Amino acid sequence: MTAPDDLLVKAPAAAIARTHCTASQYDALYQQSIDAPDAFWADQATRIDWITPPTKISNWSYDPVDIKWYEDGLLNICHNAVDRHVAAGKGESTALIFEPDSPDGEVRSLSYAELLTEVIRMAGTLKKMGVTKGDRVTIYMPMIIEGAVAMLACARIGAIHSVIFGGFSPDAIAGRIEDCSSDFVICADGGLRGGKHIPLKANVDAALNKTPVRSVLVIRHSGADVTMTDGRDHWYHEVSQDVVSECPCEPMNAEDPLFILYTSGSTGKPKGVLHTTGGYAVWTAATFHYAFDYREGEIFWCTADIGWVTGHSYVIYGPLQNGASVLMFEGVPNYPGHDRFWQVVDKHKVNIFYTAPTAIRALMREGDDYVTRHDLSSLRLLGSVGEPINPEAWRWYHDTVGKGALPIIDTWWQTETGGVMITTLPGAHDMKPGSAGRPFFGIQPQLVDNDGAVLTGATSGNLCITHSWPGQARTLYGDHDRFVQTYFATYKGKYFTGDGCRRDEDGYYWITGRVDDVINVSGHRMGTAEVESALVLHDKVAEAAVVGFPHDIKGQGIYCYVTLNAGIEPSEALEAELRAQVRREIGPIATPDHIHFAPALPKTRSGKIMRRILRKIAENDFGSLGDTSTLADPSLVDGLIEGRKAR
Ligand code: PRX
Repeated sequence: MTAPDDLLVKAPAAAIARTHCTASQYDALYQQSIDAPDAFWADQATRIDWITPPTKISNWSYDPVDIKWYEDGLLNICHNAVDRHVAAGKGESTALIFEPDSPDGEVRSLSYAELLTEVIRMAGTLKKMGVTKGDRVTIYMPMIIEGAVAMLACARIGAIHSVIFGGFSPDAIAGRIEDCSSDFVICADGGLRGGKHIPLKANVDAALNKTPVRSVLVIRHSGADVTMTDGRDHWYHEVSQDVVSECPCEPMNAEDPLFILYTSGSTGKPKGVLHTTGGYAVWTAATFHYAFDYREGEIFWCTADIGWVTGHSYVIYGPLQNGASVLMFEGVPNYPGHDRFWQVVDKHKVNIFYTAPTAIRALMREGDDYVTRHDLSSLRLLGSVGEPINPEAWRWYHDTVGKGALPIIDTWWQTETGGVMITTLPGAHDMKPGSAGRPFFGIQPQLVDNDGAVLTGATSGNLCITHSWPGQARTLYGDHDRFVQTYFATYKGKYFTGDGCRRDEDGYYWITGRVDDVINVSGHRMGTAEVESALVLHDKVAEAAVVGFPHDIKGQGIYCYVTLNAGIEPSEALEAELRAQVRREIGPIATPDHIHFAPALPKTRSGKIMRRILRKIAENDFGSLGDTSTLADPSLVDGLIEGRKAR
């Protein structure tokens, strides 16, 4: 099915006029990247500086799974993100601009030369604390300049960073520290979000009661009172006083680990997705250059937190390797007012703005006036990431924010892919609201049916990628078997994304959402199994099944079916306890929208919970429950439907 013409939005003339890559160049480069991938990626590798340039480009297999890119190259990504711009005479140009939570707070701005000084200071401090190459360093920070500096400092000395989003709970922090046996933590005293104080250091303290570490480096930011444990905790402004002013970049093999980032899967605990240095560096540098069509001097703003992959790749590594000026915003879209984003765009004359559909939907609901009261004429490109964008939100973004004149890139990718995989390129491609568009260079998407049969032409299926790309995750930290099982076992010899997808006659891809037990809540990936485990920890809960349901703002909401132990009655108080339990175990981002107490869950005769039915009921879709005759007790379903209707 081709999108009707009225669904095709032409690439704006201004974007065509300035693009790094025209439609015909895209076609030619894409073809080269498929016909001769190693030659293509050898060429792309020259975007960055190498200590020893690679002679071997790719060496990978999906069966058995072993992925290497640039394996004999030596480099340091911090050098590429910072030092080399200073060396090239761009030390005075702006690297990072910090906009605080409150519009009255102090804006900070660092040039590349200043950023280099800060990174060296932090790297030297880490060394002084005993951090060495290969050590895992946990970072739990707000969106402040020191968050970026901490990541770059780790990369500089060859330590592996594991950044944890500030919205995760102490239990979640402890689990992640334990999983990668991290001995060092960098955190701030606290963060600010929408005027609320986030007790980051206190959360770290609570986590460390469960999992001790050697040292904690604390950055003063919010000014909150914190407890410092003697011998373990150090104020950064104190210990960094007498560090030496030199700290050379550690030469890293391209396949040395750069970072671990935990993400949810359909089963079990979060997985420590591992990215290595060389391929990730090239991939983020190249995708940033082409997808955002960046030009020197432009102000780039990605609203993602550094705790997510989008923050890693498009707040830090992609833009900084390209010498961009990056805005870091600590706050939220609707504080102190619903025009905060647009006020920040106006204040800093942002040129490229990259955010998530959930934010767009939330702001759209508040009306156009919040947008139109600000001068947004600096904007020239809009981006979307994290979940499918519904055409209505796309239109509003295009018409109201972009005044109908700006290209929108809807970038599909994942923590595991390291960077953008499918997007239209601005100026090269026409856009279709709701479709991510076309594969990036080197990406070979394939749609397969549930039995793995390859589907061709315009069709829908499960989205796989058949050929490796430089930014691909190499393993799950400490658990290569799980890596293989999760991504390469469903369809042998292919990387399975976990997403469903439609391809239209123009070769545009339309991501339809997860086909596994992962839900996407406000652009945050959540394993239903994780929420279930949190619920069943409560001593009154017998069993829990969690599914997603469509939510106007969040994309998907969290719907929990819970059965209680014999003799326990449902109550509002228990519901509140269970919500608190999930927040404690995972964090506020996993707070259930609905807790539906049920006498029992629908199961097959062999005892398997029929999640398909639970999903349909949560979606208020009672007409298409399918065959319920295989249930051990089909009569349960009517009760569940009544319970859903009553909400
Ligand atoms: O389902 C897809 C959805 O987000 C998942 C990846 O989540 P995460 O690893 O947290 O990374 C998010 C940011 C890259 C994907 O499997 N997703 C991401 N971007 C899009 C999307 N779905 C539709 N359209 C997108 N542009």
